[in-house]
Amino acid sequence: MEQNAFIDKLISEMTVEEKAAQMLQVPVSVVGMEAAREWARKGVGSFLNVLGDDMRELSRISCEESRLKIPTIFGIDAVHGHCLNKDATIFPSQLAMACSWNRELVEKIGHITATEVATEGIQWTFSPILCLARDPRWGRTNETFGEDKYLSGELGVSIIKGYQGEDLSDDTAILACAKHFIAYGEATGARDSYDTEITMRKIRDEFLPPFKKAVDAGCATFMTAYGSIDGTPLTANEKVLRGLLRDELGFDGFLVTDWDTVNALIRRQKVCADHGEASNAAAKAGNDMIMSTLEFYDAIIDQVKQGKINESYLDEAVKHILKVKLRLGLWEKPLKKGVPGSIGCQEHLDTALEAARDGVVLLKNNGVLPVTPDKKIRKIGVIGPNADDIRAQYGDWTYFTHPVPGIEKEPQRPFVTLLEGIRKQCEGTGIEVCYSYGCSVNRRYYYKGNYPGIPEFMEMCYEDNAYNADYYQEMPLVSEAARMARDCDLIVVAIGDNYNQVGEYNDRANLEPSGMQAALVRVLSKFNIPMVTVLISSKPLAIPEIAGRSDALICAFNGGMFGGQAVAEVIFGKINPSGRLPISFPVLTGQVPVYYNQFPGWHEGRYVDCPKDPLFAFGEGLSYTKFEYSELAFDKETNTVYVTVTNTGDFKGTETVQIYVNDVVSSVMTAVKNLVGFDRVELMPGESRALKIKIDEDAFTVVLPDERRVIEPGQFEVMAGHSSKDEDLIKIMVTF
Ligand code: NOJ
Repeated sequence: MEQNAFIDKLISEMTVEEKAAQMLQVPVSVVGMEAAREWARKGVGSFLNVLGDDMRELSRISCEESRLKIPTIFGIDAVHGHCLNKDATIFPSQLAMACSWNRELVEKIGHITATEVATEGIQWTFSPILCLARDPRWGRTNETFGEDKYLSGELGVSIIKGYQGEDLSDDTAILACAKHFIAYGEATGARDSYDTEITMRKIRDEFLPPFKKAVDAGCATFMTAYGSIDGTPLTANEKVLRGLLRDELGFDGFLVTDWDTVNALIRRQKVCADHGEASNAAAKAGNDMIMSTLEFYDAIIDQVKQGKINESYLDEAVKHILKVKLRLGLWEKPLKKGVPGSIGCQEHLDTALEAARDGVVLLKNNGVLPVTPDKKIRKIGVIGPNADDIRAQYGDWTYFTHPVPGIEKEPQRPFVTLLEGIRKQCEGTGIEVCYSYGCSVNRRYYYKGNYPGIPEFMEMCYEDNAYNADYYQEMPLVSEAARMARDCDLIVVAIGDNYNQVGEYNDRANLEPSGMQAALVRVLSKFNIPMVTVLISSKPLAIPEIAGRSDALICAFNGGMFGGQAVAEVIFGKINPSGRLPISFPVLTGQVPVYYNQFPGWHEGRYVDCPKDPLFAFGEGLSYTKFEYSELAFDKETNTVYVTVTNTGDFKGTETVQIYVNDVVSSVMTAVKNLVGFDRVELMPGESRALKIKIDEDAFTVVLPDERRVIEPGQFEVMAGHSSKDEDLIKIMVTF
């Protein structure tokens, strides 16, 4: 039977109750298995947060015991690997992945994640996040591809291709979910899910492009954002969901709400009085599947029966869902097959290591790195709360931050922390490695032990004003680290945040390193021993003093299983760092926002008490070699930039060539520059390469107040170079 006819026939046989059930996604972790079985019998459309035998049982019930035997679909947050399964491969967080600026790698990560998710049987991941992290106080910064629309769109398309493959019915293909639609990261004050004060012009200009690319790439599902736009919750936002996403972008998959957002219309956002109103509003706005609000089921049936909503709304939503189920081939194969034995297999682990290596960003180096034999290092002190903490290295959305019932929460090998990575690099070299915890990230640590030599270094901490009443319990730890460090030839100190400071509900008002971490670095720097600081965190932190006191600074974000190994390899010169920042670092929290593509303005964007520039800018990242740019040209016919890059240093290295455009005069203000293209090139010392880089088709456009995107004739600067900083770019003028 022809596909549409099959679906139409099925819908014509469904009762209102069965349609309401098909529109529901039930969280097994919340309702438990007994209730979940009942929902499966009612013909529920989807479950989330269930693995293993429980999932297989629910699948079997829906296929055999529900009246119409429509297979159910299982969703999971496999956002940097299938990380809710403790045996799976854990990749760097999306932010750490983005540091690679490597489309092929990100697609490969998507494919491996899909293979592992599919091997579990599951058909759907709630990934990628295409929100922009333009205010790093936001707790979900780590889940994004950073602050830029072009980079997010490109890497988003790569990971979607990796998840979905060529054909959704393939054994290793799963549904991607572009989320959260839209402008979620822009909530006022970076307070997660708050209202976003924004115009539709701005939404189209800044936040729509990555989602448009996701639609064009065939992303099969989208997720609505928790928040609201100018007072209208996204869950009830017909203009955005139907108007923009469905009608204008032509999205033809299905749209799922975020967690319990129908309930939020009543309890949090207070725009609906009861579940009847809320369910009605959500369905009319264009949501096809309702995540977790179980009250939707009775409420929407009642609304139909009372004539408050036309049943055709339900038919339309169910049609979107069934079409995707059909594309998945669920009637032939209700659960995915995947590749047996592939979860956490060696080949996948190798890619996790490759991803960690590509994501390491070297932000400062006064020559202390790489550590080579001629530097005659005999003893290295590895210090700091994140040097040997795999949970901090993993970040959010793993089996211990989001446990699924029945899954063991203890960190599972294999993984390599920074301490372990450094020890490995030093094996057989005669270099001694010692370790001290230093201080905790954000909790008081009640020390009960006995450290010799404490008084001397306690004095030092007091003198340095590192003493802080809240954290006095930690002084012995700082002191012990100092005692250990004093006769080292190199200090490697790992600071950052931990998973209590990441994710939903965990926005930060203060981006300075928490606890005694800054004091620890300050105390250690007193010895004038070469010091490398490694930032293992979910986001940029405000670390001007730490950066200043360090001889080298490495940003690793959440590097996944082998994040520690990758950083150690960079420290010892086994690999030449090639990561570039996908997000800018503020000097102070109050300097936020510091994203690079702001409007030009008065006063040079300067505060009286803070420098004008960010501490580190979008696109920055050092190498052990140097690159030079020349022969920049642009071909209008093919929208292609030509530029020659030369490795003028002594090491083989990979450069990420970045292309920016500035609209010199426009009728509405436009950003000082926008990233419109990039490419990675590996060059041997002395080698030159002439590159052709096709740039974004919207590179020269502007969104007008009437929301039309047009090219306004005039002059444009086309820039190519190493980072978004003016001093790193060469320019030409182009006229349209
Ligand atoms: C809420 C989060 O906002 C969303 O990103 C996630 O996919 C769902 N919960 C499901 O866990």
